[in-house]
Amino acid sequence: MPNVVIVGAQWGDEGKGKIIDLLAENADSVVRYQGGNNAGHTVVIEGKKHILHLIPSGILHKGKLCIIGNGVVIDPTALIAEIEELTAKGIEIGENLKISELAHVIFPYHRALDTANETKRGSGKIDTTHRGIGPAYNDKFARIGIRMIDLMHPDRLEKRIQRNLEEKNFMFKQYYAVTELNSRDIVGPYLALGRRLKPFVTDTVTLINRMLDEKKKVLFEGAQGTFLDIDFGTYPFVTASHPTAGGASTGTGVGPTRIEKILGIVKAYTTRVGSGPLPTEISDGGEDLRTRGREFGATTGRPRRCGWFDAVVVRRAQVLNHFEQMAVTKLDVLTGIPTLYICNEYLINGERVSSFPASLEDVESIQPVYEELPGWNEDISGAKNINQFPKNTRRYLDRIEELVGAKISVISIGEERSQTIMLDPFF
Ligand code: IMP
Repeated sequence: MPNVVIVGAQWGDEGKGKIIDLLAENADSVVRYQGGNNAGHTVVIEGKKHILHLIPSGILHKGKLCIIGNGVVIDPTALIAEIEELTAKGIEIGENLKISELAHVIFPYHRALDTANETKRGSGKIDTTHRGIGPAYNDKFARIGIRMIDLMHPDRLEKRIQRNLEEKNFMFKQYYAVTELNSRDIVGPYLALGRRLKPFVTDTVTLINRMLDEKKKVLFEGAQGTFLDIDFGTYPFVTASHPTAGGASTGTGVGPTRIEKILGIVKAYTTRVGSGPLPTEISDGGEDLRTRGREFGATTGRPRRCGWFDAVVVRRAQVLNHFEQMAVTKLDVLTGIPTLYICNEYLINGERVSSFPASLEDVESIQPVYEELPGWNEDISGAKNINQFPKNTRRYLDRIEELVGAKISVISIGEERSQTIMLDPFF
């Protein structure tokens, strides 16, 4: 198996967790490269559901080195809670988990700012996960962030927290009119968290590059999706990091030429959590699809907005990430829908457009142009190969391949590991 980046091709929640768990079997290591505990990667094994927020989805396999890369923002409290939860389930966490010393830390003032910002935005809110992700990346780029390595140094940590709080508290009081925070309530607990996490914290750049030197196989685990990317997503309704494949390089310290393949994870329809444009959204929010697909956020429990397959979106994701192969997920959810719709063009101000527009105003005025495909009623969730699929299922997949310009290598037809069809010897 090559070194592969797993990237979401839509707005997140494409089912990356399941695919990473599957591919992890043949890999030596799984590395998260961006985002934080805003992510919720679901893996179901023998009916048991595991939701991973920060720890790479390879952790459910024994003997795989799981790494949280420098591009991730880490809430240490959430990370320890996740470690404890997994340990309680009998999943061993020790030498198999490493955390980058360069990764930035989420503090209580980031979470408070996230909520205060959202309240201020009112009806224009982004509908963030309130995990402090945006404010933590803000501090990183403002060059006042605090990194994992700093948690191990009491003097340094105290000084930096005090300096940051001076500014944040001014904003809390004068601008947001919310309660100020006290550094005493943060420094001690964060030093304690640092002591607990110290055994995991290391130079992951050297570690990953050494593995690649030794021809070990590394999976790069993206969180969120292409259309939530800070540069390429539906700005400003995006997250604050780079879920796109380029982020795998900067978020881990691995030169781009060392990455051999990109696998785009594509849901067989479209979903989005939170506000912002979703051109193919079904007029009632896609309640039928939501019920069928159990489309509720794995982190916040919020109902996901649902829509038809948008080939313009996935084609753009194909270009941005240059994936030649796709894993199509949740195909079984479409069983029983008499007519399926695929959008391949938009009408914007009366003009036909087949590429994704840059301006938010244009995106908001999109009228999708649909082609209709006949659905199928046969249960496909137990199929072992595509020859067992009804003709119309194959037709739907063929059309997706044709419109996106990438090959379907993996098809997921249910939550379980066993409900997956691999069409490529690599995967
Ligand atoms: P933030 O990442 O919490 O700042 O949220 C920014 C936007 O990204 C919001 O619309 C969230 O709903 C969305 N978002 C963040 N993480 C995920 C995810 O893992 N899946 C889907 N949407 C996400």
